[in-house]
Amino acid sequence: MNKVDYGPLQEELRELAREKNALIIAHNYQRPEVQDVADFTGDSLELSRLAAETDAHIILFCGVHFMAETAYILSPGKKVLLSDINAGCPMADMITAGDLVKMKAEHPEALVVAYVNTSAAVKAETDICCTSANAARVVSNIPAGREIIFVPDRNLAMYVEKQTGRRLIKWDGFCPTHDNITLDDILRTKQEHPEAVVLAHPECLPEVQEIAGSLESTSGMIRYASGSSAGEFIIATEMGLIHRLKKENPDKDFYSPTKRAICPNMKMTTLAKAVQTLREERYQIRLDEHIRKRALAAVEAMVSYT
Ligand code: 13P
Ligand code: SF4
Repeated sequence: MNKVDYGPLQEELRELAREKNALIIAHNYQRPEVQDVADFTGDSLELSRLAAETDAHIILFCGVHFMAETAYILSPGKKVLLSDINAGCPMADMITAGDLVKMKAEHPEALVVAYVNTSAAVKAETDICCTSANAARVVSNIPAGREIIFVPDRNLAMYVEKQTGRRLIKWDGFCPTHDNITLDDILRTKQEHPEAVVLAHPECLPEVQEIAGSLESTSGMIRYASGSSAGEFIIATEMGLIHRLKKENPDKDFYSPTKRAICPNMKMTTLAKAVQTLREERYQIRLDEHIRKRALAAVEAMVSYT
């Protein structure tokens, strides 16, 4: 099979970005050719911070809907474009603001911590947001004895409970992509590569978390692999991350435990779509100002936690 030459489209995108003073940011799960053309590639926390700090006129977010919404919450003065408006997050869709309001009514004293993988309307009902990179620190900072509602990811919630020793009132949401990675997949891959260190995302099933050498956000996995003396890693997260891992650690080997570790929403963004989105300045993210303002404090608190 001939290799596709992405060069011309990448040049076109860079040229448009220069012309329009646009910052292109891409999540670590994006297609390799999209990651390679972005100004920055990173995890949810890093990309939110960049969106808050940039003085670019336009932010082209190559990722999924809640990420671009979070960027808009932090930077309402910028034009935030989502590379493909149909790219959602099934986990974020598992809880509505109405569900959370009901939960709050059942636990009126509880503080609400919401994973950033939620809609702006859910964030508006939240006290503090978190990402997988800082969820445990956010929760451990809440005064002991205070009830805590944690939504929507039950697997991340279980990880946080283990890390902090706190009990959380959980929602039963999950990431379908990470749920596809089974313990059997890890054990089989480990048999094939017995020396490999298992790195897992906290969105993984509890039994996968249990046998991991370390639990990390996507960028946390990159830092771990770069700093480790090990030469082989089993990467229990969406397989798009392997592109950056290989690029930044050319002398190390990375294995995905299953071909099913793929997020169809993250893969919706093609280079051609990204070019068209920026050229036409389409798919602009806007929010009701009342919702944005109510969500802002929770998101600002999130970006302040390392
Ligand atoms: P992080 O990159 O923040 O680890 O998030 C993983 C994820 O599933 C984003 O949707
Ligand atoms: Fe949502 Fe999972 Fe896809 Fe991340 S990998 S965007 S959590 S479905």
